[in-house]
Amino acid sequence: MTYAAGIIGIGSYLPEKNLTNQDLEKMVDTSDAWIVERTGIRNRHIAAPEQATSDLAYEAAVKALADADTKPEELELIIVATETPDYKYPSTACLLQARLGAKEAACFDLSAGCSGFVYGLGIGSQSIASGLYQKVLVVGAETLSRIVDWTDRNTCVLFGDGAGAAVLGRVEEGYGILSLDLGADGTGGKHLIQPAGGSRNPATHATVDAHDHTIHMDGQDVFKFAARKMPAACKKVLQKAGLSIDDVALLVPHQANLRIIENAMARLKIDREKVWINIDRHGNMSAACIPVCLTEARDAGRLKKGDNVIAVAFGAGLTWAGALLKWAK
Ligand code: ACO
Repeated sequence: MTYAAGIIGIGSYLPEKNLTNQDLEKMVDTSDAWIVERTGIRNRHIAAPEQATSDLAYEAAVKALADADTKPEELELIIVATETPDYKYPSTACLLQARLGAKEAACFDLSAGCSGFVYGLGIGSQSIASGLYQKVLVVGAETLSRIVDWTDRNTCVLFGDGAGAAVLGRVEEGYGILSLDLGADGTGGKHLIQPAGGSRNPATHATVDAHDHTIHMDGQDVFKFAARKMPAACKKVLQKAGLSIDDVALLVPHQANLRIIENAMARLKIDREKVWINIDRHGNMSAACIPVCLTEARDAGRLKKGDNVIAVAFGAGLTWAGALLKWAK
């Protein structure tokens, strides 16, 4: 026996502080024109000094729980997708559990880069489908501003902080997650890496001096991977569900670069009106992008019961992840 599983509540949180392209012009050798033309980004949010990833996650989770009419004690599993946990351990999911009062929910952090939230949707929904759990919280939360090299113009213009959360539960038959495509190509790991701070290169004065605790990225290699994998994952989930792109009401792509999104739109032959884009306002918030997009789309009245929605992402690993949902609320 399997159960239909889907999103029953969503919420998001963005830190108050904005960092505009004009602000960045004063920090590194860049320009508003270059950033807008090459990435589509105009603004990003930056966490306050006292805010860590679990604080952002908490704000988003409280809203998602209210939306799902679910009490924290009902949660049986909490997954936090993040590349910027508060600590190496305990997990950010455990910190969140304690703050929410989710008592005995199982907790773990999920490291799949920007694909993390969609990976979490996959794992969380399968644990409901199998009957193991009934209520699962999946959060994508990042404070990338803490691991950005603010002297490197190649990367510092791209990233922002934020969090989004979804409560998963049983839904009507035929609704919820219809199909998934989760994958990775570990041979591309070197293209997007935080080289120091783990067991390979533990923290030393030398690693700090070399800025090796920050994001290192071969932008063009990641771009090529994304351009190939995002449309492929969309086609795969559609094919698995026996649907076509014309059946899709909303495409929610990872927000890394507007040119990557436009490339995917062209390859998929989907109109821009059916694609949620917020990269101009928030930049790349890694695992937080998809749930923040979903919350904005819901608030704008763009998610109606029965709508077919694709969430698709790529990220560090290199990973990719697609999920096709029939919106259940
Ligand atoms: N301002 C001005 N000039 C810049 C900037 C900047 N902020 N950044 C780079 N440049 C310069 C470069 O130095 C280079 O100059 P040169 O020709 O004199 O050497 C020139 O602009 C072109 O650089 P490219 O790297 O070729 O620029 P490109 O068009 O490839 O854009 C970018 C770079 C935006 C990084 C793009 O490759 C990209 O978006 N890649 C994908 C990134 C991505 O998706 N990351 C995902 C992260 S996912 C996660 O898990 C965190």
